[in-house]
Order: sequence, then C-alpha cells, then structure tokens
Amino acid sequence: MKRIFILLIVCLLLTSCQGVSKEEEKTSIRIGISLYRGDDTFINNIRSIIEEKAKEYERESGIKVTLDIQEAKGSQNTQNNQVERFISLGCDVLCINPVDRTDTSLIIDKAMTAGVPVVFFNRQPVEEDMNRWDKLFYVGVDAKETAVLQGQMVVDLYRKQPEAVDLNEDGVVSYVMLEGETSHQDSLIRTEWSVQTLKDGRVSIERITGGIANWERSQASALMEQWLTEYPDTIELVISNNDDMALGAIDALERAQVTGVNVIGIDGTTPGLEAIENGKLLGTVSANKDLYCSAILELAASCALEKALPEEYPLTDETYFWTPQEIIITKIKENP
Ligand code: BGC
Repeated sequence: MKRIFILLIVCLLLTSCQGVSKEEEKTSIRIGISLYRGDDTFINNIRSIIEEKAKEYERESGIKVTLDIQEAKGSQNTQNNQVERFISLGCDVLCINPVDRTDTSLIIDKAMTAGVPVVFFNRQPVEEDMNRWDKLFYVGVDAKETAVLQGQMVVDLYRKQPEAVDLNEDGVVSYVMLEGETSHQDSLIRTEWSVQTLKDGRVSIERITGGIANWERSQASALMEQWLTEYPDTIELVISNNDDMALGAIDALERAQVTGVNVIGIDGTTPGLEAIENGKLLGTVSANKDLYCSAILELAASCALEKALPEEYPLTDETYFWTPQEIIITKIKENP
C-alpha cells in the first residue's frame, strides 16, 4: 500500500514537472549576428537572405525571432566587444562571420562561459578552436569544390569551342589571377585548384601575372588597368577568386575598350549574376544561398530552443554544414 502511494506521488510530481516545462517553452528567441564588414557584396547578400529566412521561420513556427545585426568594420576588437554586448543583452545564440578566422578564441571563451552557442559562417575558424566545444558550428562552402567547378566551366567551354577561350588560337590560354585576402581559407585554395583543374582538363595555360585585391572591386580594377598597360593584347582569361574582383576587372577592360577577354568569378552575387545575364562575366560558381542562409538560421534556432536540427541539414563531424554549389555560365558564350 505504502509503495503504491509513493508511486502515485512520483507520477503526480512527474506530470506536474512536465506541465511546467511546457509552459516555459520559449516563444521568442534573440540572435546576435556580427559581420566582418558591412560593405562586402557577398556578405550583404547573405545578410538580406538571413533576414528573410528569420521572417519565414517566425511565420512558420510562431516563434518570434529578434535579430541584432552588427558590422565589425574589419576590426576583431570591435567584434569581440559586440559579442560581449550580445551576451549581456541575453542573446540565446550568436552567428559570427569572424574578422580574423585565426583569432576566434576570445569569442569562444566568452560564449562558453555564458553557455551561448555560436554558429560561425563564411570565414572558417581553425580546427583547434572549433574542437573546443560541442556548441560551435560552421556554415560555408568547400573551397576546393568551388575552385574545381570554376576551372571546370572553362575546361567544358574549351572542349566545345577552343577558340572561345584561346582567343589568338596559339594553343595556350594566357591568364591573370585576382586573389582575395591572404588570410582567408578560400583565397589560397581557390587560386590553386582553379588552375590545377584547367591543367587536369588538358587546357594549356600560361600565367601572365596575378595579384591580391582583397575581394574588392576597386582594387581589382586598379590591378587590371595596370596589367592591360603592361601586357597589351596578351590577356585571354581573368580568373578571379570572387565576383566583385571579376567585376573590377571588367570595369578596367571597359575603360580600356578591350573586348573578348573571358572573366570568371565565384559567389553568384546579385551584380555578378547581372553581369552574366549581360554576357560581361563568362560565369561564376554559386553556393545555394537559400540553403546556406536557412542552415545558419535553423542551426541558430535549434540551438536557442535546445531542439534537434531538422534532417535537411546534415552536419559533417556534427559541426560543419557544407552548402552545395553550382556553375552559372552566360548563355551568350555557351551558344554563340
Ligand atoms: C567570398 C567573397 C567575400 C569573402 C568574405 C568569400 O567566400 O567569395 O566574395 O568577400 O568570402 O569573407
């Protein structure tokens, strides 16, 4: 009898506890987002889509999502302070696009102490840092895959119409290379593997020159202007680590009234896609931005609500979401 009585009390306690946790289920979440810079075209594209995704999530789940978005203006110190502020404001989760991907330890320290999970994106922290806590995630693209796709688009065109790539038909494609920030994981890998893919695809190539334009249109435009003067009538292909620098090269080509040179980029930004539409940019490699941004948002929301991540977002090593990518090429060159 005594046992049954105790059992009854335990059951009553359990059901009442469940009742409390149901009532306490979160109906709103707050996400602190810090961008390495606010004037980066690709990052701005991502920002707008994350904002749309947050509204979509709110509509579908009935959970209110507050986004606190800050720009770090290229300063790691500023970003560290933003993280501190997000935590003091009670953010449930942080989405960080680190300024210096090799210097995220302070952000991680602060987040771990406060028990606030972090979803990094686009600028990949070093593995040692990512391994410090099981509440650290990364959303991005596989840099080698991007570069192989970029090289492949030229290989495919060369096979179909060699003269569309080897403009002077001397059997060698002479190219220049525009590189992003040296500290960014994407720059080195993109530079190496786009060229390697051309070689693997049996396109004879010759590097005329190259330079670092830090992802920026104006810097790339200045470099290209200089190269057009130094190497007149020589450049057949411009390989750029991103669309913005590719557009800078196109600006310089237009100013010098040089036509026919092929320019390839990466990102599929809004201005990049417009240039493809107009036949100015031969092609680009684009991540599925919809998926990229919903992965960031869904990961953040599931951390904030302490729920499992939906199955559509498989994580490698329970940490990394690698977004699928595709080639986008101008129809004008494909069907001359
Ligand atoms: C993009 C660049 C961008 C950079 C910012 C790269 O992955 O391709 O366009 O400027 O990330 O971190």
